Amino acid sequence: MVDNKDLEAEIHPLKNDDRQSQENLQSRSDKEDPCKSPPPRSRLSRCRTVAFFVSLFICLLVVFVVSFIVPCPDRPASQRTWRIDYNTAVAYNFLAMEDVNRDRIQDILFLYKTANSSNSNRSCADEGFSSPCAFAAAVSGANGSLLWERPVAQDVTLVQCTSPQQRDSGVLSACILVEGSGLVIALDPFTGEALWSHPSSLGGNTSILSLLLGLPDVDSDGLPDLLVLTREDKEMSCYLYSGGTGSQVGSKGRLGTDGEKDVLLHVTRTGAHYLLFPCARSLCGWSLKSLLEGMTGRESHLQRDLIWERTINTTTYRLVCARLLYHSPRAIRYQMLVPGRAGEDLLLVGSEACMLLDGQDLVPRWILGDTQVFRKPILGHYKPDTLAVVIENGTGINRQVLLLGLETGAILWHQPLPDLPRGPPSASVLTADHRSAFFFWGLPEGVGTNQMDTPRSLYMFHPTLPGVLLELANVSVNIIAFQAVLLEPSRHAAYILLTGPENPAAPGLVSVTKHKVRDSILDSRVVYLGRDRDNSDQAVRDHFFRLRYRSES
Ligand SMILES: *[C@@H]1O[C@H](CO)[C@@H](O)[C@H](O)[C@H]1NC(C)=O
Ligand SMILES: *[C@@H]1O[C@H](CO)[C@@H](O)[C@H](O)[C@H]1NC(C)=O
Ligand SMILES: *[C@@H]1O[C@H](CO)[C@@H](O)[C@H](O)[C@H]1NC(C)=O
Ligand SMILES: *[C@@H]1O[C@H](CO)[C@@H](O)[C@H](O)[C@H]1NC(C)=O
Ligand SMILES: *[C@@H]1O[C@H](CO)[C@@H](O)[C@H](O)[C@H]1NC(C)=O
Ligand SMILES: *[C@@H]1O[C@H](CO)[C@@H](O)[C@H](O)[C@H]1NC(C)=O
Ligand SMILES: *[C@@H]1O[C@H](CO)[C@@H](O)[C@H](O)[C@H]1NC(C)=O
Repeated sequence: MVDNKDLEAEIHPLKNDDRQSQENLQSRSDKEDPCKSPPPRSRLSRCRTVAFFVSLFICLLVVFVVSFIVPCPDRPASQRTWRIDYNTAVAYNFLAMEDVNRDRIQDILFLYKTANSSNSNRSCADEGFSSPCAFAAAVSGANGSLLWERPVAQDVTLVQCTSPQQRDSGVLSACILVEGSGLVIALDPFTGEALWSHPSSLGGNTSILSLLLGLPDVDSDGLPDLLVLTREDKEMSCYLYSGGTGSQVGSKGRLGTDGEKDVLLHVTRTGAHYLLFPCARSLCGWSLKSLLEGMTGRESHLQRDLIWERTINTTTYRLVCARLLYHSPRAIRYQMLVPGRAGEDLLLVGSEACMLLDGQDLVPRWILGDTQVFRKPILGHYKPDTLAVVIENGTGINRQVLLLGLETGAILWHQPLPDLPRGPPSASVLTADHRSAFFFWGLPEGVGTNQMDTPRSLYMFHPTLPGVLLELANVSVNIIAFQAVLLEPSRHAAYILLTGPENPAAPGLVSVTKHKVRDSILDSRVVYLGRDRDNSDQAVRDHFFRLRYRSES
């Protein structure tokens, strides 16, 4: 119901104002009739007028100068697509982003192995390696021009760079490389120079399992330290290195016999640090405090958590909580820390189930049984501002992509999407509507897995059109690494492909390419998942084309 007064005002909107303005007019004309007695214009008022116009002119001039003549700081133009090639090389599965040349566009770091690099004036022998050796390179994200390149190691087993979150909390930017022999090298991502390197102290039969950056400072140099996990014969051990100098701190730490790769550092809500790793069909945990105290022989300022101390069996280091054992996800293939309601929770992907554990009391939040996951899940947003987890159930021709709500484990979307085994990982990029665009690899429709040189297709998905996949590109070369990224904050999304020979023993063409997602959308093919086609192909492409992206906050 509309108020009577409002209705009146709507019908005669000008009634009251009219009367008032008429009255005003009358009274004004009474007071100042220009014909009656024009006021004598004094010199003073003329001066005022001149002063007024002069100052107005100066103001306009200043505005003009500032807005047109003084140039804005140059924003380098990003090329829509670029490519850099290396002949007779092999690529490592590694891509990292860092603004190397400080032009506010993320640049791309990658590793490859070759005998001779035509771009680098330094050879393997100059750095004391035999040929072929591993080169690290950084290329400009804007146009693919080479920023630096140099031989860094004989071969690379593990590589990891400090994450943007770690950098925000004051951690030195570095990429840590571990050679098969155990040599640890810290690389400055801005110059490619080695910050430090530490010769191997590992025994003959040691293999390197994983690398943990950003350990709380142990040697009191103000920089986070790093832990290298190894397996010697049957025992899992760890070595601690100073983040500042690379020198080893303390002695070898022993982690028992059951451990497998993939170690996480978890901080409980009470602020205690625990190392977690899959072990013999369960999950094992170590208090970082006791581990470091054992290795250095000094008391550590870290904390213990009472609940966790009671949960960890002191002889096997397994986490003993009845419900975890009862709902065992079997052999744990992947474990991830994911943002939870308060602090971080733990997502476990087992050979038969996926489960989310509360990060403090280890109570399962949800369990999704009957899944065969062979790929580490990724996160994204299906509903605005709520995290979803992407898992791939099955491999090859039976592969299905599932999107689960992280909070509840409910299946939000699922789609069969056959792929060849060991395909590139999926990716997600935040969109301005607080959801994510997802990128999946799969086989083009109607292509068998047994055909030689089968191309792979890159599909794009956005939750606002759940019945549609957009086939962005067909790639027939072997993909080593893939990332979908925003190279500039809140600008266009791009995808980076590192391609190269499948067999490391047979060097060939290695390429790094950048493609703008929008350009691919123009040439894309629309794949309707259901039978109903509510939109025309062009309307779907337009919808994807209009998506705006935002950077991770
Ligand atoms: C590398 O360069 C050296 C000399 O520059 C040349 O003798 C050698 O054949 C090259 N090796 C390869 C694999 O191209
Ligand atoms: C390679 O080139 C850089 C400058 O471009 C120079 O500083 C460096 O000394 C050169 N290194 C060798 C081994 O020639
Ligand atoms: C590429 O961009 C950088 C700045 O990001 C610029 O210095 C360089 O000249 C550009 N190179 C080419 C080949 O356009
Ligand atoms: C390495 O392992 C092999 C077999 O597992 C064994 O024969 C050899 O003695 C070991 N070498 C060392 C240095 O432990
Ligand atoms: C720890 O595990 C061992 C071996 O399974 C078992 O014998 C022992 O009772 C457990 N200890 C506790 C405190 O549960
Ligand atoms: C996973 O795949 C298997 C075999 O294809 C199927 O039986 C099972 O129902 C799938 N699980 C889910 C949660 O969809
Ligand atoms: C990919 O290949 C398929 C089959 O050859 C073709 O129908 C499709 O149009 C191609 N897609 C793109 C994006 O080029």
